[in-house]
Amino acid sequence: MTTKDNLIENAKTVLNSNFDEDKGFTIPCEGLYPFQWNWDSGFIAIGFAHYDTDKAKREIEALLSAQWENGFIPHIIFHNDSDTYFPGPDFHLSKLHPLASKSHRTTGMTQPPVLGFVLKELYEIVEDKTDILNFIKANIDKVYHNHEHFYTHRDPNQEGLAFIYHNWESGTDNSPIWDDIWDTMNPPNYKFERRDTTHVDASQRPTNREYDYYLHLIEIAKEHHYDDAKIAELSPFLVQDPLFNAMLIKSNAALIALYEIIGDAADKISQLKQWQTKAIARFNEKLFNEKLGAYVHYDLRNEKQIEHVSSSSFSPLFADIPDEARANTLVETMTTKFGSENRYLCASFDPDSDRFNPKKYWRGPVWINLNWLLYKGLKSYGFYDLSNRVKNDSITLIEKHGFYEYFDSRKEVTENAGYGGNNFSWSAALLIDFLKS
Ligand code: DGY
Repeated sequence: MTTKDNLIENAKTVLNSNFDEDKGFTIPCEGLYPFQWNWDSGFIAIGFAHYDTDKAKREIEALLSAQWENGFIPHIIFHNDSDTYFPGPDFHLSKLHPLASKSHRTTGMTQPPVLGFVLKELYEIVEDKTDILNFIKANIDKVYHNHEHFYTHRDPNQEGLAFIYHNWESGTDNSPIWDDIWDTMNPPNYKFERRDTTHVDASQRPTNREYDYYLHLIEIAKEHHYDDAKIAELSPFLVQDPLFNAMLIKSNAALIALYEIIGDAADKISQLKQWQTKAIARFNEKLFNEKLGAYVHYDLRNEKQIEHVSSSSFSPLFADIPDEARANTLVETMTTKFGSENRYLCASFDPDSDRFNPKKYWRGPVWINLNWLLYKGLKSYGFYDLSNRVKNDSITLIEKHGFYEYFDSRKEVTENAGYGGNNFSWSAALLIDFLKS
């Protein structure tokens, strides 16, 4: 077997052993994340699509089976019980919302909306187009309903940009971006028992004080029964996130393309196009920072940009958001700030910043899912050298260190440079896609 075949076989072993045959979903990794996570499942389905369509479909069906009546798709689905994770279903209490899933316990927050473009990836990967198109037909309206929910309930100024109210909705859980918001808050010191640090070294995870902020935001949302309008009015964390909105925009485009293939959906296509035009225009107006040469987060509560560069800053390339001149600027910023010879691409946070930490979760390490988005985005704009570098760095990191959750970007760290959970599902799934594309 070639090294490439070997890596693919190892990746399949990781995915298959994290898949729960009975309930039909895949845990991100054992112990640390013992339930179904929203955007993880999207990336995982892409990996399965290369060798087991049935599992790819079941993964998405399991996630959608917990969709709320208002279209909302939660960030964690608690299909099972587990005492290895905090905060669990009894903390989140999603049933406080009148339209929450009746059949599943979930959280009351979401994650970057990847499902639209994941459906399109499945359509492109799976050979039996008739079969996969039937699956897409059965599920696409649920994803459309989810987008409708974002544009109706998460966009109070009707700008075309959805807000997030919790750092866990961003996917980039403890990014230094959020430090600016923590500075505006003073939550109580909650009493709780962390479980994550029993699985992973505390130096690679958020601090206890950070957990106070995380829990406090959930308490505020719970107090108002997860009502989006109340959250928009009261949450100290209210952010328009470039990664989150780029995923929504990419998914809009994918839904348009899929509905065009399916046919008989003129109204939905026209609505999606309206959302899309408005969203892209506003994104470019509001989320670009000329001084930094990058897209940034916007703090909607305090009405200002959060001026830091992270890997999320480059994700709009994946959604065809920048024009060519701006794409060139982004590449220049990525190359000068993140791309020195002695670094793997792409660190999750600006390596020049004093908030950069090469080992800590989203405060610096390289993440395979962000790399996958950046690879695709760079390639689509014709930046072939840089896109190949991102792809090859991703493969090298996994080959050298294993299927970790995140990796040190410093090339001088040659031993134990894989951090967080091991046998991590999306690292395995996206490695398969990298090697097959
Ligand atoms: C965690 O517990 O860190 C999760 O990533 C939240 O989604």
